[in-house]
Amino acid sequence: MKENIEQNFHFLLDEECSVLLHIPSLSFYKLNEKVLSLLSNSKERNEFLNDVHAKCVKDISNTSEEVENNKKLRKVVLLVEQNCNMSCKYCYANEGRYDSKHGLSMKYEDLLCAFKLLLKEFPEGIEAIQFFGGEPLLNFELIEAAVELISNLCKEECGVIPKFGLITNGTIITEKMVEFFNVHNFGLTVSLDGPPEINDLQRVLKNGDGSYHLISKNIDLLNKNRKFNLYVEITITKKHLALYCTKEAVKEFIDYFAKKGFNAFTLGFAVDFPEDYGLTIDDMKKFREFVKHIIDYSIDSMFTQKPFVFYAAYFLISKLIKKKKAVYPCRAGLRNFTVTAEGKILPCYMFAGNSFFEVDSKISNESNSKCKTINDIVDKFKCENRTSGIEECSLCWLRYLCFSRCPGFSNILYNDMKKTNKFYCEYGKLVTERVLVKLALYSSDKEKMQILNRNMKSFGSIKGEIIFE
Ligand SMILES: C[S@@+](CC[C@H](N)C(=O)[O-])C[C@H]1O[C@@H](n2cnc3c(N)ncnc32)[C@H](O)[C@@H]1O
Ligand code: SF4
Ligand code: SF4
Repeated sequence: MKENIEQNFHFLLDEECSVLLHIPSLSFYKLNEKVLSLLSNSKERNEFLNDVHAKCVKDISNTSEEVENNKKLRKVVLLVEQNCNMSCKYCYANEGRYDSKHGLSMKYEDLLCAFKLLLKEFPEGIEAIQFFGGEPLLNFELIEAAVELISNLCKEECGVIPKFGLITNGTIITEKMVEFFNVHNFGLTVSLDGPPEINDLQRVLKNGDGSYHLISKNIDLLNKNRKFNLYVEITITKKHLALYCTKEAVKEFIDYFAKKGFNAFTLGFAVDFPEDYGLTIDDMKKFREFVKHIIDYSIDSMFTQKPFVFYAAYFLISKLIKKKKAVYPCRAGLRNFTVTAEGKILPCYMFAGNSFFEVDSKISNESNSKCKTINDIVDKFKCENRTSGIEECSLCWLRYLCFSRCPGFSNILYNDMKKTNKFYCEYGKLVTERVLVKLALYSSDKEKMQILNRNMKSFGSIKGEIIFE
């Protein structure tokens, strides 16, 4: 069958600058006026695309599909506390309890048991540990013991101590904790949805009061003494779209986080629930405008001497530098696993309560669950979770760069880990398009490109430089 050459390309016809992405090789080109006018003639267009394709096909051998090292884990998430001192309006984790009725705290023996099993299955060790919950700092004593235990076990078994990170609601941080994070070089993420006018509408304490005053005080405490990077996770809801409707308001909103001293930010989106907060399809137009303003403003910051790093843009640029084609949307169930407060092993915390994917490190093979071993989970995810196996994704121009599908979120929202979500797809496409346009715009500005490369290296030790074809 004759190949349709167009399916290898995505055109970005932007007012500022037009770009052509060759999908299979992840090569991208800035289109000048001459090429743009030639594209309107079907014969010339065909010749041009065939030429570009022939040139890029040679490069495909340089693009590497993610090689899965099945002996080394990328990340283990520890649900050290399945309880929380807050009642955020949109919490997918059932106020931190997940599927447990009254909440649970992790015990040392259960952690030890789970780690022995993980290190048996992955003898080359673990790159990163993330403390998570519920609110992980409610079980700080266990975190202290876990860091010692995991450091010793990993050093003995594989000679390398993992990097440690923690995601917290930021309400109960003490000086002692900050000192501990300094000593062990933690990366810390605080969840905060903006200044009090928005944060206190949705991130509320158990008694319904806003949490801003506590978080703000603790961020100041962190900034006084910290020697580690501080990130913020912002959960966007309908309320944001109502409050920040203009370009200037969105810019001020993002500036607020930079001024508060954070080094980088990630965005999450509460979709579908609860009614007053969750984004629904009627919000799509406003959502696009809001996200576009954030993206434009934040990508520009990556080309400055003092960047406020937008994690999604950083992630995409690093993929374009490495020309690394994504085969799976994330590493859950392949090289990332979660240990629950009871010591059970899951592909990701978003699968809590889904006994199909639960491996019990204490009763191992006699478990009633359908996946009896970690290998069963890996096999299932390898086969079911490939982007190319999902029809909608296999036809999508973003398929080799995509970070939009979260199998865990889809498991929670739709009970189907293969389903895509319109908001996340739209977000992924908007970020990628703007990253490509900005790279094209600045490609001839040597100084800007040097700054970007320096920022990329210092944020994530990325080797290589961005090359504009
Ligand atoms: C489940 S919390 C656990 C850690 C800690 N309690 C905290 O709030 O940072 C982790 C992150 O998930 C986000 N989150 C909770 N429910 C969400 C939802 N329905 N949609 C998107 N993000 C959500 C929270 O805002 C928070 O940034
Ligand atoms: S602080 Fe985290 S776990 Fe607790 S209710 Fe809020 S989002 Fe959920
Ligand atoms: S953007 Fe959506 S449809 Fe496209 S590859 Fe990603 S998840 Fe699939």
